[in-house]
Amino acid sequence: MRPPYELVGARPDPAFEISVDGRPVPVVPGQSVGAALHAAGVRSWRSTRFGGRPRGLFCGIGVCFDCLVTVNDVPALRACVTEARPGDRVRTSAADSGTAAARAGAGKDTAGKSVAGAGRPGAAGKEPGGESGGDDEGVNGR
Ligand code: FES
Repeated sequence: MRPPYELVGARPDPAFEISVDGRPVPVVPGQSVGAALHAAGVRSWRSTRFGGRPRGLFCGIGVCFDCLVTVNDVPALRACVTEARPGDRVRTSAADSGTAAARAGAGKDTAGKSVAGAGRPGAAGKEPGGESGGDDEGVNGR
């Protein structure tokens, strides 16, 4: 199967990597941080303030605030609308929070390898299952 960019005759710049919690994640130019994480098999990288439920992409359009990350020391950025740039250092809170999501293994790719971590409880004050619209089972069904 041909990738979408070939179907439209695009010639994208070469792929690059970003660092997510110190681990390399490949990026196609133009991808958001959230899209790169999703493409790498990472489905959650933060957790809810109450209950420590795993969160990652939910709306994918910048509305729900489920996908918050720190990029180059700028906190509380929405991964789904933040374009990844070469050399970006993305930090989730899994590595330093010891959240329930991290303990439960959130932030692992589909093969079970750790790629990025789980999240940062209470990062933006909006929580799924509360005012942001996510249900308590989370996007990932974990
Ligand atoms: S997934 Fe990023 S704001 Fe909803």
